[in-house]
Amino acid sequence: MNYRHAFHAGNFADVMKHVFLVRILVHLQRKQTPFRVIDTHAGSGLYDLTAEEAERTREWREGVGRLDEPFAPAVEELIAPYRAILAKLHGRDPSAYPGSPFIARELLRRQDRAIFVELHRADYAALARHFARDRLAKALHLDGWTALHALVPPKERRGLALIDPPYEEPGELTRLAAEMAKALRKWPTGIFMGWYPIKDPADVERPAAMLAEAAGHKGLRLELMIDASAAPERLNGCGIFVLNPPWILSEEAELILPALAERLARASFGAFRCEPLAAAIDSQPPG
Ligand SMILES: C[S@@+](CC[C@H](N)C(=O)[O-])C[C@H]1O[C@@H](n2cnc3c(N)ncnc32)[C@H](O)[C@@H]1O
Repeated sequence: MNYRHAFHAGNFADVMKHVFLVRILVHLQRKQTPFRVIDTHAGSGLYDLTAEEAERTREWREGVGRLDEPFAPAVEELIAPYRAILAKLHGRDPSAYPGSPFIARELLRRQDRAIFVELHRADYAALARHFARDRLAKALHLDGWTALHALVPPKERRGLALIDPPYEEPGELTRLAAEMAKALRKWPTGIFMGWYPIKDPADVERPAAMLAEAAGHKGLRLELMIDASAAPERLNGCGIFVLNPPWILSEEAELILPALAERLARASFGAFRCEPLAAAIDSQPPG
């Protein structure tokens, strides 16, 4: 386990992932019935953008560092809850950036619960400290894939499982699709959000088709490309698969993604994709 999120916190991929994490949780808040959040690869929860790790890559400057200027009003309205979480945190610590557990925790109501799973010992220790005395959220030191299947279905019918692995192992994107499909069968009313990196866009087709088979029309593929670079070893973009998305999420993504693509592009190139997963079946070669 070499991956440490502290080097990447607040980069373009975090911004994209966290903006949609917030949108999904805002939609879950629209009903009074409780929901559960399960974050299988949670990280340490909170990051210091002046720490040595963040300073070494400075990735956040091309991510959250580019959000100072407002977007068009319709986009601002959608990202306002994400900005509010950042603003509240910055009131206490201007150089902090929230990880997915911190963001999810901010959006829990009294009746909701969250479980944050992290395997790296030091990151887990930091995570456990944040939520040590929290009645609504708890941290678990476990393998995230094992935890996903142990924790679904939760007793709440509604909720979100965020699956955000580090992609250190070959085949992890295919594994993401297989594990999401399996977990969906156990918790058919849950929302599942799986994040993936894009180096070569062709790598995404097979996992997308697998999930399309599993989720039918109840699946979305949202992608943000910030570079057209042919260098496949560079992170040129990222995406999320969302199973059982809130019905309005694709409309929101049609506004958010082009704005992020324009703002976060490395040079002049920025692109996005917002399509039902079912479209991936048609783009698979036969056989
Ligand atoms: C991309 S980071 C998570 C970032 C976090 N979800 C966020 O948005 O702030 C992936 C995390 O997974 C952890 N990890 C790696 N292998 C794991 C495993 N098998 N089970 C659980 N966590 C794992 C890494 O230590 C790392 O903190």
